[in-house]
Amino acid sequence: MADKKRVLSGMRPSGKLHLGHLHGVLSNWKRLQEEYECFFFVADWHALTTNYEKAWEIPENIEEMVLDWLAVGVDPEKATIFIQSDIKEHAELHLLLSMITPLSWLERNPTYKEQKQQLKSKDLSTYGFLGYPVLQAADIIIYKANKVPVGVDQLPHVELTREITRRFNYLYQEIFPIPEPLLAEVPKLPGLDGRKMSKSYGNSIFLSDSAEEVQNKIMTMVTDVERPKKSDPGDPEKRCVAFNLHKLYLPEEEIQDIVQECKAASLGCVACKKRLAKAIIQAMEPVWEMRNTLASEPGKVKEILHAGAERAREQARSTMDQVRQALWSPAAK
Ligand code: TRP
Repeated sequence: MADKKRVLSGMRPSGKLHLGHLHGVLSNWKRLQEEYECFFFVADWHALTTNYEKAWEIPENIEEMVLDWLAVGVDPEKATIFIQSDIKEHAELHLLLSMITPLSWLERNPTYKEQKQQLKSKDLSTYGFLGYPVLQAADIIIYKANKVPVGVDQLPHVELTREITRRFNYLYQEIFPIPEPLLAEVPKLPGLDGRKMSKSYGNSIFLSDSAEEVQNKIMTMVTDVERPKKSDPGDPEKRCVAFNLHKLYLPEEEIQDIVQECKAASLGCVACKKRLAKAIIQAMEPVWEMRNTLASEPGKVKEILHAGAERAREQARSTMDQVRQALWSPAAK
């Protein structure tokens, strides 16, 4: 274990997850947990920066989200899974890092500017929201993470973490490795309507959807718009939204057959989407089974998160001992 590189990533508890999360984030976590020492956590304090007016919604969302993580195979035996707010040390390190983080670094953060623009209905002129990346830096370095799997949207935050970490190491003592972002190749997975799959667009297939829901949703999915009738030849690789899912869920030979039959106008979109729905349902069955088993055991998820917190806390405490030492009583300065 000791020589394994350490990976850390967090997700805000937004409630139930969809196929976009599975193929974009969770399948990557599953790969990483085989190779690295992984810490995966629920960023509930981060959720509070934008949802402080409805703080009570956050705990409900945590359980749903963690059920999804576990159901798809993020494994508490392999990775340390916990809730951010269970480890108070994140808050202490956040405070200390806030002392050394220049305001200008935060004010020019592109996600700060963008989100303030986009979420106009919320008052985000808060101290906490501006400091979002400082808290994220604390999350990362408190575990001395080497690699941080994130999407491109989060790259500015990892860059800020690197700058803050360098500043700490320079001012006090070199105790932190400089973490690196880990960008995964993410397959294209649009929502039912062809836009990015997102809960707020209402175009998602959720991991907790039933077989009927999956079937019904797939049947509403946009196919080749230039193929209004079955007798028109289609071009799935160029124009069919559903075909992005075929590529993820069907075996290679079947995909080839579908392309040919669609181009030859012999396979209709309804029949084609039925095949897709069947394949997705088949792939999801073990996930649903696992989700139901976990959900039917009262206290199971809490128990897993508790055990994860114990492990995480040990590391966070040991780092904070070093941090306080470096700050208050450096051996030689
Ligand atoms: N900001 C991240 C997001 O919105 C969540 C997050 C919080 C995170 N702390 C983190 C991700 C630390 C990676 C590492 O997706």
